[in-house]
Amino acid sequence: MSDRIVPTKPHISRRAHVASFDHYQRLYRESVDDPSGFWRRQAERIDWFHPFERACEQDFDRAEVAWYLGGKLNAAFNCIDRHLVERGEQNAIVWVGDEPGTYRQITFRELHDRVGRLANVLRRHGVQKGDRVCIYLPMIPEAVYAMLACARIGAVHSVVFAGFSAESLKNRIEDADCRVVLTANEGLRGGKTIPLKQTVDQAIEDLPVRTVLVARRTDAAVPMRAGRDLWLADEMERQRAYCPVQWQDSEDPLFVLYTSGSTGKPKGQLHTTGGYLVYAGYTHQLVFDWHPGDVHFCAADIGWVTGHSYVVYGPLANGATTVLFESTPVYPDASRYWQVCDDVQAAIFYTAPTALRALLRFGDEPVKKYRRDSIRVLGSVGEPINPEVWQWYHDVVGEGRCAVVDTWWQTETGGILISALPGATPCKPGSATFPLPGVRPVLVDEHGEVLTGDGVSGNLCLAGSWPGQARTIWNDHERFRQTYFTTYPGLYFTGDGCRRDEDGYYWITGRVDDVLNVAGHRLGTAEIESALVAHEFCAEAAVVGFPHDVKGTGIQAYVIPGKAADGVPPEEIEAVLKQQVRKAIGPIATPDRIQIVPGLPKTRSGKIMRRILRKIGEANYQDLGDISTLAEPHVVELIVQGHKAAR
Ligand code: PRX
Repeated sequence: MSDRIVPTKPHISRRAHVASFDHYQRLYRESVDDPSGFWRRQAERIDWFHPFERACEQDFDRAEVAWYLGGKLNAAFNCIDRHLVERGEQNAIVWVGDEPGTYRQITFRELHDRVGRLANVLRRHGVQKGDRVCIYLPMIPEAVYAMLACARIGAVHSVVFAGFSAESLKNRIEDADCRVVLTANEGLRGGKTIPLKQTVDQAIEDLPVRTVLVARRTDAAVPMRAGRDLWLADEMERQRAYCPVQWQDSEDPLFVLYTSGSTGKPKGQLHTTGGYLVYAGYTHQLVFDWHPGDVHFCAADIGWVTGHSYVVYGPLANGATTVLFESTPVYPDASRYWQVCDDVQAAIFYTAPTALRALLRFGDEPVKKYRRDSIRVLGSVGEPINPEVWQWYHDVVGEGRCAVVDTWWQTETGGILISALPGATPCKPGSATFPLPGVRPVLVDEHGEVLTGDGVSGNLCLAGSWPGQARTIWNDHERFRQTYFTTYPGLYFTGDGCRRDEDGYYWITGRVDDVLNVAGHRLGTAEIESALVAHEFCAEAAVVGFPHDVKGTGIQAYVIPGKAADGVPPEEIEAVLKQQVRKAIGPIATPDRIQIVPGLPKTRSGKIMRRILRKIGEANYQDLGDISTLAEPHVVELIVQGHKAAR
């Protein structure tokens, strides 16, 4: 770990919202001395149709949290309508298509028109306040229109990442009981087409979905089922642009977003309207030091929470121009991000360490091909950033001029909680640095004792609520309470391990539960295991992570073959099972390695000792700990031999 301090840059501090470390500390103190006053002031950044009465009510023992009680507002109104007078002709969205050089500008006025029409289409097809609408779209403007159209009429969107398989999509549509689905005939990414409509058709075969609205992204013809499937553009053409705003209670749901946990079934995190929007706007402005006129380029997909908060809601609530990027960091070559930064004159660029690690392999030349002189702030999210990669981002991409912010947060937190602030925070490469004003991290040891002082390591919890916090798991509040509020009573438990160093800097060390962070995507080991055992070639499976150069964490599966695999060559079993996981979850969950094993290390009570499997996966064979208490200690040696042979 690096303890080198990178000081703030005077030219950034001079115009920053938070201009020095003293200023940050003052704000922080104010926020903890009077949280209610602090969050009341933050709420003034958005427009309320009816003012709220109380800032917050919270009871972590019951997992009950509510913000801005009694207030009424509308998220789409805040992201569009209120900007029309001053910024009607400013670009709200710059869409960057997959093929280099494809750009489309959408002003706030056009956005208002498009969102209004789409909202009227939804109403026409029977969508009412509180109904869930599934969005399975690629990174095209219609995806943003659809999210905001739902928000406008009080419907709850459930965006599903367009890389998920039919089976995953089906589970999510079913869980949230969506009756309307938006998709595209095909997606286009990195020059390849993705058969989205076909996947939807498979997913909803047995579900009571009544309407599928299909955007046309390519020229491909797709089967359209009469009475159910409609072309989105035709439907929008038929509607007027004006759609009245449905004023929402602050605590009315805004969206559900599924994320993996340590059990097999993804959880639908529910975010509500007032608190989420205030928090997205607050963090977008502070962490990226956004100023009017700055173009904000977050490369995340809208299928993840980063896309929700920092492609759509945060920037648009603040009146920013936001970039919607359809392609990949390496299409057509490794300079694509920097080309786009120049073309759109991005002031802020935000991506994941996995993308930076992939780019770093191509060296500095693709970066230097472009000027990047519009960039002021470079952000990182989704996984720990290695100090070397941080340094490269800072020195090469940012030419030492830009502020680098490593932002820690989760789907559950709605927005960034721990991050440096440009112009205020001296950085230590690899550390997310300090909590934002209003955020109270707490480290707890394995006995539940709160660790005070600096130079300590433990599990990361949060004391007290913040407005962006998820309110429940869709249809399963007890699971919400159990998962986050029972491990350490009175605290929200994040599932991450963390060190607070001698200077009070926070270093996130990774998940302490059975969740893997693969290329910045969250996957539950149990989810991958259930996908594997669903195939007759697999009798039993155990999945662990191992260090991976690009993805951060790779997926290693240990598999006991089923009877049906008798006589099948191991390479074939491997290939079939990889395909099985792609089909069940999606390509992002494909195991990097599958090792066929004769047995798994289990305790006498049948619990799989993952600790041992993780060590073997890391090729750390020496340090397996005490294995004498296992039911069949000899299998460990066999697995080690198999692992060595495979390497
Ligand atoms: O382990 C942490 C890691 O990603 C998890 C949250 O994943 P997800 O809900 O998919 O949201 C990702 C985008 C916000 C966390 O529990 N994580 C996220 N950001 C960082 C991080 N780990 C280290 N450093 C970060 N900056």
